[in-house]
Amino acid sequence: MVTTTNGTLVEQLHMIDDPASGAKGVIAIHSTALGPAAGGCRLWRYPSSEAVTTDAIRLARGMSYKNALAGLPFGGGKAVLTHPAGPFDRATMLRGFAVAVQQLGGSYITAEDVGTTVADMELVAQHTRFVAGLKRPAGMAGGDPSPWTALGVFKSMQAASRLALGSDLRGLTVLVQGLGNVGSRLCGLLHDAGAKLVVADLDSHRAQVAARRFDAQLRSIDDILKAEGDILAPCALGGVLISSSIEELRVGLVCGGANNQLLNDGDGQALLDRGIVYCPDYVVNAGGIINVASEYLRETVSDVQRRMDLIPERVVQILSRSRQEQRPTNLVADEMAAALIRSARRVAA
Ligand code: NAI
Repeated sequence: MVTTTNGTLVEQLHMIDDPASGAKGVIAIHSTALGPAAGGCRLWRYPSSEAVTTDAIRLARGMSYKNALAGLPFGGGKAVLTHPAGPFDRATMLRGFAVAVQQLGGSYITAEDVGTTVADMELVAQHTRFVAGLKRPAGMAGGDPSPWTALGVFKSMQAASRLALGSDLRGLTVLVQGLGNVGSRLCGLLHDAGAKLVVADLDSHRAQVAARRFDAQLRSIDDILKAEGDILAPCALGGVLISSSIEELRVGLVCGGANNQLLNDGDGQALLDRGIVYCPDYVVNAGGIINVASEYLRETVSDVQRRMDLIPERVVQILSRSRQEQRPTNLVADEMAAALIRSARRVAA
């Protein structure tokens, strides 16, 4: 175990510094209690090497919790590579990274994340077998994770709406912020289910296309969080739920695909205080990682569908416990995930 400066425990921290390939960064393995640590490889610019390590650890812990609650036989890890300031040979750098992954002997499984692509992972796969997120044969798990992410959000919303609002989605108004890969697919599922849609996107063309396609009302990006409706689905950026935006919300339920929707853990309490039910982001948006994990396990599309059913079940467990104990859903989810990891550790010991 390695204790970091902010007190977070991780099982392993591997520094990558390979001048020959140009690969520089960190692989953080938060936990392998439930299986090999799975989590993508981020390629990003950072102000310092400390910032790289801090981000890798934070993201690795997030993956442990996400994988645990998704019922996957994987722990959590993350690779963060520093994006070079000037021109660089991408294929050589990725080879350096792949060699580092291979040296860990399967305790860390990589995939694409912010700044890396399927094509990058195809290159990585030439030097290590501990990689997922590759092209797949028909009928097998893998490929674009976004449709699965959107489906998981939709299933979560259905379950949460019944529990928290006492209603199916038909006739309810859902505000969708962000109409990219996840948001636009979610709109399609909601439209088919008979929900009324109110949408916004930074890209006005994208917003207009979605409004026409799904018979949705258009809002500006400044207004969408304040609009009146039943459910808010943040599907753009993180950090949208902060004390000032929470005060202005006019919905009863928040359930969306964006990562890190709460700026701070305490914002979960602010939502609870306002009587707004929050579905923890990493639980509802686990469809993508389920698809990637199934690919690594060489499972079929039917296996992914079967695994997806656990997402709404978890949402119901978390929301019910939060209601019973009058505690924020984000804390309940974190505790459930940590307990699953702890009990796996005990079994292994
Ligand atoms: P994307 O990049 O395809 O779409 C994001 C959309 O949000 C874009 O259309 C962008 O113009 C819009 N946007 C940005 N700022 C906005 C603002 N302030 N107001 C309104 N719209 C804004 O991204 P994608 O893949 O759809 O992902 C959306 C979120 O879901 C991200 O937070 C991502 O990390 C998360 N996520 C995505 C997964 C996936 O499978 N694609 C898996 C798990 C999480």
